[in-house]
Amino acid sequence: MENLYVSTHPLVQHKLALMRSVDTEPKKFREVVREITALLLYEATLDLPTVEIDVQTPLAHMKGHEIADRIGFVPILRAGVGMVDAALDLIPTAQVWHIGLYRDHRTLLPIEYYNKLPVQPTVDICYVLDPMLATAGSATATVKILKDWGAKRIKYVGLIGAPEGVERFHKEHPDVPIHIAAIDSHLNENGYIVPGLGDAGDRQFGTS
Ligand code: PRP
Ligand code: URA
Repeated sequence: MENLYVSTHPLVQHKLALMRSVDTEPKKFREVVREITALLLYEATLDLPTVEIDVQTPLAHMKGHEIADRIGFVPILRAGVGMVDAALDLIPTAQVWHIGLYRDHRTLLPIEYYNKLPVQPTVDICYVLDPMLATAGSATATVKILKDWGAKRIKYVGLIGAPEGVERFHKEHPDVPIHIAAIDSHLNENGYIVPGLGDAGDRQFGTS
C-alpha cells in the first residue's frame, strides 16, 4: 500500500513486544511508548526540508543545516499525550496542538471534546500522534479537522494498527502517510485490536 510505512527496525520490534506484554506496568509502558515514538518519528521526519546556515566552529567557518519547516505535533487525547515528550525531545521548537476525541463505547464513533486550533494554520507540517489505529474513526476525524483548518501536509504516527483501520484511513486520506510499528491481525467485536496491547490510554495512565 502506498504511503504506508511499517517500521522493521529491530529496536522498534523489541520495544513493541515489551509494551504489549500484560506484565508491563504503567511506568515501563510509558517509557517504551516514548522510546518507540522517538524511533518512529526519526523515520517519519526523514524528508523534512532544511536550509543552509552559517556555523562557526572553534576551528573554522562552515555551512550547516537547520530544519526549514514549522512543525506541529497533534496528539489525540488521551493516549497520544504519551508520545509528546519524545516528539518535543527531537524537535523542541515544535508547536503542540491537542485534539480531544474519545470513542463512544457503543457506536465506536469518535466524539470531539477539545480543539483549540487558531483560525489560520500556524505550521507547515502536522504529525498526528496516537498509539492506536483501530477503526480509524479517531485518526480520520483528526486529519479532517486539520485539513479543514488548512493544513497542507499531514503525517500520522502510531504504534499499532488493525488492517481494517489502516485500509479505511488510506481510503479516506490517501495523501497522508501512515508511520506505524505493527499491523496486527484484526479488530474484535468491541473494536479492540487483536493481539494489540489493550487500552493504550488506560495502560499509560493506570486507569484500567
Ligand atoms: C483510543 C486510542 C485512539 C482510539 C483508536 O482512544 O487512543 O484515539 O481509541 O480507536 P479508533 O481507531 O477506533 O478511533 P479512546 O477513544 O479509548 O480514548 P482515550 O485515549 O481517552 O482512552
Ligand atoms: N483503543 C485502544 O486503546 N486499543 C485498542 O485496541 C483499540 C482502541
